[in-house]
Amino acid sequence: MKNPFEPFIKLVSLMVALLVIVASFTALTITGILFIYQGGSLPKLNLATENTAELVTEDTSISLALMSSEGMWAAPNWDLVEEQSNADLIKYGKELVANTSEYLGPNGKVMKISNGMNCQNCHLNAGTAPLGNNYSGVAANYPKVRARSGQSEDIPKRINDCFERSLNGEGLPVDSKEMQAMVAYMEWLGKDVAKGESPKGVGIYEMAFLDRPANPVAGKRVYDNQCTSCHMEDGQGMPRFDGLGYTYPPLWGEHSYNDGAGLYRMSRFAGYVKANMPLGATYERPMLTDEQAWDVAAYVNSMARPKKDITNDWPDISKKPVDHPFGPFSDGFSEEQHKFGPFQPIKEAKALAGLK
Ligand code: HEC
Ligand code: HEC
Repeated sequence: MKNPFEPFIKLVSLMVALLVIVASFTALTITGILFIYQGGSLPKLNLATENTAELVTEDTSISLALMSSEGMWAAPNWDLVEEQSNADLIKYGKELVANTSEYLGPNGKVMKISNGMNCQNCHLNAGTAPLGNNYSGVAANYPKVRARSGQSEDIPKRINDCFERSLNGEGLPVDSKEMQAMVAYMEWLGKDVAKGESPKGVGIYEMAFLDRPANPVAGKRVYDNQCTSCHMEDGQGMPRFDGLGYTYPPLWGEHSYNDGAGLYRMSRFAGYVKANMPLGATYERPMLTDEQAWDVAAYVNSMARPKKDITNDWPDISKKPVDHPFGPFSDGFSEEQHKFGPFQPIKEAKALAGLK
């Protein structure tokens, strides 16, 4: 006799079979995704328990903060600037730092003494960003003797150094309203810093040295992948439509900083970029590995740029920093090694000779 339930049982078995197929397929897909997500390196996980150093891959080192934010210097509250008796001068000083080119660039409305860049292009957020080359230590540490000039430099002299080198131009007259305004702004920024002190996050990040020379060829790859979208393939940046500066500043060529500027030193460039570039990177969220930062510095600083007569710099040649790329030197290392590194052997030789 025919089982009246037979078609029903057949249907149920069919559905169960279908379910099993779908379930296995889903399980397989999830396993696959998990495997890819972990970089396809499931066996490595077992190794990692034996050797935790294995877990620290290059990729995670990019996302490590360069410093903790605890105790980090912060600029005084801008809303309270009106309380200062020289508030108007301070405000003009900040405006000049942020929009230098509008006032003092090639088409500047006050003077035409600089290359179209703004101080703020390198001293981020008008010189207030932690490890963004900020001015927190200026008021507290000048005047001071600087080895580059062999002289005591006050704030106006230091400001004019950047005009003549970083902005490849001429210095401001020391008694001009513009100079007084910039000095007033920097003094206000550093008003809560004790004399002689360097706040946490001052200036530029100090990079660890590589144990090999920085490589311009590898640096070009970094540049092409991570910098061209703003600074352009030819390194000339993107000028503003009104001709009063740049949306994205140039990194080399006739409108860029000259070879006497701070950024022409590899450690300054790499440290600046490590904590601030590509735009959006911060000391808390760097985007380049140390190697990428050094290599891109080597690439950019191998390109043509204006020359500065620096024959009077470093009257005591033994005080040249390890990465000052122009001889004569007091040590036996070549210009090539002083430019690209490795810098550790130079540093050790200096220490042996009792030099800093
Ligand atoms: C191309 C990049 C660049 C531009 C543009 C630039 N600077 Fe600088 N500036 C530097 C670098 C690099 C240093 C040295 C930082 C270091 O070695 O820690 C520096 C240092 C300084 C310092 C000394 C800071 C300290 O704590 O000792 C002052 C002051 C200064 N700049 C002012 C200015 C002013 C004002 C302008 C605009 C007229 C300007 N800079 C434009 C790169 C630049
Ligand atoms: C999304 C756009 C963008 C990208 C990508 C970018 N930058 Fe910049 N960069 C800027 C801007 C904007 C400034 C000026 C900041 C300001 O004025 O506030 C700047 C400033 C600089 C400066 C100092 C000023 C100068 O012209 O000398 C250097 C050096 C620099 N960038 C290097 C790099 C390097 C190297 C990379 C790639 C690793 C990079 N940038 C990627 C937008 C960018």
